[in-house]
Amino acid sequence: MRILVIGGGGREHAIAWKISNNSSVEEIFAIPGNGGLQKLAKCFSQPSDISGLADFALEHKIDLTFVGPEALLVAGIVDEFERRGLKIFGPTKKAAQIEGSKSFAKNIMQKYQIPAAVASTFTNYGEACRFIEYQSPPFVIKADGLAGGKGVTIAESLAEAKQALHECLVSKKFGASGEKVLIEEYLEGQEVSVLSFSDGTTILPMAPAQDYKRVYDNDQGPNTGGMGCYSPVPVVDKQTYQEIVEKIIEPTITALSQEGIKYKGVLYAGIILTKEGPKVLEYNCRFGDPETQVIIPRYQGDLLEAMLAVVEENLSNYLLEWTNEKCITVVLASEGYPRSPLTGREISGLEKASQIEGVTIFQAGTRSENGKVYTSGGRVLNVTALGKSFSQARERAYSAARLIKFEGCHYRCDIASRAVEASKEAQLPSNV
Ligand code: AMP
Ligand code: GLY
Repeated sequence: MRILVIGGGGREHAIAWKISNNSSVEEIFAIPGNGGLQKLAKCFSQPSDISGLADFALEHKIDLTFVGPEALLVAGIVDEFERRGLKIFGPTKKAAQIEGSKSFAKNIMQKYQIPAAVASTFTNYGEACRFIEYQSPPFVIKADGLAGGKGVTIAESLAEAKQALHECLVSKKFGASGEKVLIEEYLEGQEVSVLSFSDGTTILPMAPAQDYKRVYDNDQGPNTGGMGCYSPVPVVDKQTYQEIVEKIIEPTITALSQEGIKYKGVLYAGIILTKEGPKVLEYNCRFGDPETQVIIPRYQGDLLEAMLAVVEENLSNYLLEWTNEKCITVVLASEGYPRSPLTGREISGLEKASQIEGVTIFQAGTRSENGKVYTSGGRVLNVTALGKSFSQARERAYSAARLIKFEGCHYRCDIASRAVEASKEAQLPSNV
């Protein structure tokens, strides 16, 4: 089979790495790819538009396309590929609204009583301001549409909340994506990501993962795309996992189906474990990054077969199996990330680091040139390790991270530290 992977992050590197184990894979193409994908796939910088990508897939006789980032899914890449007779993994434009419009997702959750933060929607700045004047901080302000992970503000004061509303509704910082905003109840608790395969009818939830969103240790500094992750998640015990599946994941796919939307692909539920139980923070219509980098190494099955089963609506014959090993990934980021990353710096130590037992390095913002690897983005590398315990996986990942050097490199030192403690007592779900 000939596979096309669209995207160039650690997520896409992890997916291609796993798919390349399937003996029926003849060739992998990646657009745009990165320094790591260059070793597994033929990388092309172009095209980037949907119609050009479909032309590319036809021309290169691609048997299955995998799409990493949400923007193309929300813009309808799956509909266009299917219209042209091409196999592609992911939800249609209608189904991808679950991520593309937070108000669409919120309406589904309200209508079908899926537990989530209470929210109100506004398009008028004055009305939104009057609404929050009657509330107390912190305020959660969300741009309705896609905003590259930057559309959520947790404001500690009324002034800060009004500024976020002004940026969306008046200065149009996020363009059309911010013309509508949600003001949401602030929820407290640990966050967990649960990704599931869905073929529209059958749902197979994957092992949970926990992402670290803030740039610095102890959850300090601005939000990022994700600075590290681990799986499984000790705080998600058997009962919590079952509750998430029965009260959130299954009802969401069923709700969409009742709305006439067949959801095929991966549904990612961003969940917060509150005192009243798990509640949805957001949905994504794709694999998470860096969640994928810790879920995929633990997955014991054949990823390509699972994806084909989703596309062919055959998932009921499938079962997901996970290694008991724990997995952690530490993101090595560029100087200035997340605000304004400085790039073009040579990376050393990759070879030596990847020789440590259990370690795999998934590359993200890198490019390879004349045998050397350079930084080319904010999040540069995902140093990933499996281990018998969280402490062994941590020890391996951080030993590898310390061997890698590039000017201005920074990373969090506390990834999975709370899992090490919590796992001593946790009774984990046996199947994840
Ligand atoms: P989202 O993109 O909606 O997941 O939001 C990004 C991050 O903002 C989440 O991972 C949470 O850390 C935080 N967040 C979003 N919504 C809420 C909420 N209602 N209460 C507390 N924190 C939130
Ligand atoms: N890890 C957050 C995301 O993929 O959106």
